[in-house]
Amino acid sequence: MTATAPAFTPEVRQRTAALYQKLKHHIPEVEWTLTAPLIDAIQGLKTEKKALVLAHNYMTPEIFHGVADVVGDSLALAREAARVKAEIIVVCGVHFMAETVKILNPDAKVLIADLDAGCSLAESITPADVEALRSRYPGAPVVTYVNTSAAVKAVSDVCCTSGNALAVVESLDSDEVIFIPDQYLARNVARQTKKTIRFWEGSCMVHEIFTPADLQQMRKDYPGVAIMAHPECPPDVVHEADYAGSTAQMIRFVQEKRPRRVALITECSMSDNVAVQFPDVDFVRPCNLCPHMKKITLPKILATLENETPEVLVDPAYIEPARRAIERMLEVKAG
Ligand code: 13P
Ligand code: SF4
Repeated sequence: MTATAPAFTPEVRQRTAALYQKLKHHIPEVEWTLTAPLIDAIQGLKTEKKALVLAHNYMTPEIFHGVADVVGDSLALAREAARVKAEIIVVCGVHFMAETVKILNPDAKVLIADLDAGCSLAESITPADVEALRSRYPGAPVVTYVNTSAAVKAVSDVCCTSGNALAVVESLDSDEVIFIPDQYLARNVARQTKKTIRFWEGSCMVHEIFTPADLQQMRKDYPGVAIMAHPECPPDVVHEADYAGSTAQMIRFVQEKRPRRVALITECSMSDNVAVQFPDVDFVRPCNLCPHMKKITLPKILATLENETPEVLVDPAYIEPARRAIERMLEVKAG
């Protein structure tokens, strides 16, 4: 942690004034006096150390709008990781995202503000489980959602994200596919393909608890609402929604269609971030918090940049095979 918290000086107020204009309806002024000095200090250190900050769409608005250089869904962050050249990359997201960045950028020092920012999906499966599935369904290729450890990616044929899962499955020259670890994403893909999908019983602790009844109630309470669901939600929830897509695809939908009123059936910070960009859209907020994503905070990001720790390291034995599986995904046109 930082030794002393930076202060809200007149210089900090001035340097962060334009940002506050953007965030003032989302962050109370009293809170800004504590938030702005942290943002200002992080921006200063980023410049000094030539560090790059990649942030997932589930980060809180002060991180998403205040300190990130690149924001996006898992697919966009992976694409950026494959493209950028930076000595220090700070990943504001969960551990598997930082591992993906390290795999695609092994020479960079990849930092994450909290090594314990995990994921219920990534924790649900091991390489031994994958080998057991291969023995059970011989010859079927393994499509692995990026929400997995580097060790699991290393024993997979190809990765996918929620933004390209169907396209990746369709790109394979096999009628039978093992799809791990998210059973709901797998079942949602299975509804859109003729291939036989063999799935694993993993699930996202945030999305699995939405129900169709929640969405039906929302339509009654908020007439005309456009409902978008993340495909990690169970299929009956996705069926009840007007649109399903990755976090970036949901944002694109709002940008292009400009519905008057929107409900994003996903993690809470999504609506907060998108609402800043589209003040004319009314966001209904039936959301669930991801406790892992919320482990990433401004004070921890500042300490991480100051101390250049904790660093995300990937066992060298996993880097090559995991990179092949991710790169195969990046070659598929979609998302
Ligand atoms: P996206 O790839 O859609 O951003 O999803 C990542 C994630 O963790 C969803 O819970
Ligand atoms: Fe994992 Fe779900 Fe959190 Fe995404 S929202 S990081 S899938 S637990």
